Amino acid sequence: MSDWQPAIRRGELSEQGLHAATVGDHKVVVLLADGEIVAYRDACPHEGFPLSKFAERQDFVIMCNKHLWEFDTGTGEHISRIPRPQCNLKRYPTREVDGMVEVDLSAVPLGDPGPITAYG
Ligand code: FES
Repeated sequence: MSDWQPAIRRGELSEQGLHAATVGDHKVVVLLADGEIVAYRDACPHEGFPLSKFAERQDFVIMCNKHLWEFDTGTGEHISRIPRPQCNLKRYPTREVDGMVEVDLSAVPLGDPGPITAYG
């Protein structure tokens, strides 16, 4: 069952921003990717550092500055020389209701496996 909750006002999103939001018990990062609103768990899949604090955007890439892992802004896919599909960002469905961005918390359960400790 869906659990849509308000995260951030659409008007607060900038084209190159990574916007942190706390939604219930979830830490989320919300961004615009080629005009589309996307939201991910605010945790790098490598060691869990918050992307909103340690990552930066370079057009269509989110780069975590801790160890330079890179992710596609629009899909959250981990992109590097070594494919690691289990290291994609955890993505929340989003929708806009009266200027408010909502995320479906049910899509990323808090009990989901968190950061990895060994490379797959
Ligand atoms: S914690 Fe992000 S690349 Fe290591």
